[in-house]
Amino acid sequence: MSGSYAHDRSPTPGLFLGLIITLAAVVAYSGYITRQVYGLRELQNNLVDRNRKDSLQLLRIQNDLNLLGLAMRDMLDNEEPYPLTAWAAQFQRVRTDLDDALRRERQVAPVDRSLDQKQYLESSVAQFWDAADRTFALAQGPKQEEARTQIRISLRARQEALSTAVSRLLVQNNESEEQATQQIGQIYDRVQRQVYWFLTATLAAILLTSLYLIRWNRRLFAQLAALSAQRSELAQKVIATQESTLRHISRELHDEFGQILTAVGAMLTRAGKQVPEGSPLRAELREVCEITQETLDKVRSLSQALHPVMLEETGLESTLDWYLPLVERQAGIHVFYEKSGEPFAVSGSAAVHVYRIVQESLNNVTRHSGARESWVRMRFLPQALEIEIEDHGCGFESRTAKQGIGLVAIRERAELLRGAVEFQRPAEGGTRVRLRVPRESASEEPAVIPSEIPAAMTQQKLETHGR
Ligand SMILES: Nc1ncnc2c1ncn2[C@@H]1O[C@H](COP(=O)(O)OP(=O)(O)OP(=O)(O)O)[C@@H](O)[C@H]1O
Ligand SMILES: [Mg+2]
Repeated sequence: MSGSYAHDRSPTPGLFLGLIITLAAVVAYSGYITRQVYGLRELQNNLVDRNRKDSLQLLRIQNDLNLLGLAMRDMLDNEEPYPLTAWAAQFQRVRTDLDDALRRERQVAPVDRSLDQKQYLESSVAQFWDAADRTFALAQGPKQEEARTQIRISLRARQEALSTAVSRLLVQNNESEEQATQQIGQIYDRVQRQVYWFLTATLAAILLTSLYLIRWNRRLFAQLAALSAQRSELAQKVIATQESTLRHISRELHDEFGQILTAVGAMLTRAGKQVPEGSPLRAELREVCEITQETLDKVRSLSQALHPVMLEETGLESTLDWYLPLVERQAGIHVFYEKSGEPFAVSGSAAVHVYRIVQESLNNVTRHSGARESWVRMRFLPQALEIEIEDHGCGFESRTAKQGIGLVAIRERAELLRGAVEFQRPAEGGTRVRLRVPRESASEEPAVIPSEIPAAMTQQKLETHGR
């Protein structure tokens, strides 16, 4: 299974591609929308707004022309008692307004207005005023009737032709505004269609990238889980091997060397009895016997340290009662041991694991924390056994990059116990290892580590012991 891992491509190029496609789509679409909005604004400014302003001026011109028409009708009305020149002032007022309107109209005239149309309007207006000037000049003299004829024939016709031309321009403006509205509608339709396309494409890119990512994630997690399981299995095998090796060596030391030294001791004692009292040989034999006894004690305590037989014999509680003072003596730190709750039996492999965790934690206190004091708290809770090993030393922060196997083994053992281990920092600083083992795991006897040591061995005593 693990062999294939090395050949797996990294998902990064695929994800990168997805990201680039999505970003490119967003950038391209933003450019497209900007262009469309710009086009819309141009259309609005150049066509629609201009058209409306132009139409306003055209209406103003139309109005002026109507005023002129009405004035001419009054001038031709024979009932009127005034001379024709009486209208000169009104004509002048209209002329000023008309000139202003025409000037403004020229500025806002639609861009597509033909040169012919522009020139026609301007020259027609100029001709009209020429004719009007001539008519008023005529009217100033005695030729009132001739002037009236001029108005009837020439001026009115020119005014009407102008009015028609302006009306035509108004109609043209209306038409081009309608066209513009249609164009704007088309742009909106197009943009809307593109929005759907863009959304579909972008969502597809996002979806594909996400699916790819999810698939890879699942694969990575599966690989991680497999590797983690393998690592855990390996660690547990190492732990089991370590335990059985230690147990084997401990038993060999205790049984084999114990037996031999016991036998040597017994023989020495017997030999000593045969030597006469007071002889130097007897004193020497006694000395050798004492050395043998010391060696035996050392072998036994080494055997105990490697694997305390009393773990299987009397359980965890009494093993710790024996072990903690030993640590105080050997490591030179002060251990405050606190027990609370209603004790229950912890034995078998559970006791071995808990004992090893305490042992490793205290080793770490001695080796890394710099503290000279440590607290071991054992709490028998209704549902669990809780053990804390605390020091107020330097804590984990100051640890170097180098990592040992101790903490890993603590975690693995906690897992074997179906318990939980936490590494905390007490308020006073330092380190607190808190192990919590469910009561059923602590009490049952899972045969993870085979028990091989004969019970009788722990009781073994040298015959010379009581000497
Ligand atoms: N009580 C503690 N106080 C301060 N630092 C600690 C303590 N316990 C562990 N550490 C830090 O955590 C590191 C890892 O601990 P771990 O027990 O895993 O390895 P180790 O003790 O260095 O080696 P090993 O236990 O394998 O012999 C240590 O090197 C040390 O820096
Ligand atoms: Mg360690």
